[in-house]
Amino acid sequence: MIENTVILGIETSCDETSASVVINGREVLSNIISSQINIHKKFGGVVPEVASRKHIEVINAVVEEALKEAKITLNEIDAVAVTYGPGLVGALLVGVQYAKGLAYSLEKPLIGVNHIEGHISANYIEHNKLEPPFICLVVSGGHTFIVYVKDYGLYEVIGETRDDAAGEAYDKVARSIGLGYPGGPKIDKLAKEGNENAIKFPRANFHDDSLDFSFSGLKSAVLNYLNKAKMTGEEINDADVAASFQKAVIDVLSDNVIATCKKYQVDKIAIAGGVASNSALRNRLIKEGGDLNIEVLFPSPILCTDNAAMIASAAYFKFIKNEFSSMDLNAKPNLKLGEK
Ligand code: KG4
Ligand code: ZN
Repeated sequence: MIENTVILGIETSCDETSASVVINGREVLSNIISSQINIHKKFGGVVPEVASRKHIEVINAVVEEALKEAKITLNEIDAVAVTYGPGLVGALLVGVQYAKGLAYSLEKPLIGVNHIEGHISANYIEHNKLEPPFICLVVSGGHTFIVYVKDYGLYEVIGETRDDAAGEAYDKVARSIGLGYPGGPKIDKLAKEGNENAIKFPRANFHDDSLDFSFSGLKSAVLNYLNKAKMTGEEINDADVAASFQKAVIDVLSDNVIATCKKYQVDKIAIAGGVASNSALRNRLIKEGGDLNIEVLFPSPILCTDNAAMIASAAYFKFIKNEFSSMDLNAKPNLKLGEK
């Protein structure tokens, strides 16, 4: 009989405090997420100092809730996993210190997990049979990457943003048309009522065969369009702005990820991160992938945004390779994918 490996995951890299119990990297027993969105909304974005304080206030209760819902006692856990980067340093430190204390007192292994690796691993939970190799498009509020997942824990970054992340562009554009934070879901909804061909916004193109992205020019173009319209008294149709902006983002995301599949001859795409919830991105990739016999997978929305189940899942694939962290584990706000 195969032994079950029970991992407690902890995630505090940004504005969600989360704890989760996951068996064998794929079966989620609990995934408790305490979101701070309502607090940060007032400021139009995440305030790092406020985020750290809130994590401290709730982390204990969140972990207790995760254990209770999973009907697991601390002694039944095989390892404690925690996000140690990338993210906000103060926020990361809360999770890292908590996990270290817990692992030390329980005499259980500690596993530090890269947050991006966590987002990728959310697909292992959603798709029980998914195995590498596949191409992963990681699109979140802080990151935009095309990653070639060659094996469990073995990654090659094929493309990345040279400035703003896709989610960041969504949030900034949403704010400029008065939609509030976080803007992604609001633009997604509003865009359904607009004409995606109404306004021609730019798509960044690099002339060096690169599969990188750039969204800051697009963001500035939207802001310029809005300012000009206000100055000339031209009527602004917010839904058209949302739909045209979204079309520009999705055109480059899907073109680059499909080009990656062709270049590396991989017939599977997994999407990950908050923006992977976007309905237009999902529909576009399913359609384009379908035409090319490329399978397109994505996690359910709760596993797209920050959560600890994805961290516990990523940790399992380290656990089976005996890749443990020492008690020196520290928060690394700029941690790169694949960096030890
Ligand atoms: O992965 P995540 O929870 O946090 C980071 O690690 O950054 O992603 C949050 C981002 C925010 O920028 C939010 O606006 C965006 O994901 N987002 C969306 C949608 N849902 C969330 N963007 C576009 N469409 C959506 N439906
Ligand atoms: Zn994230």
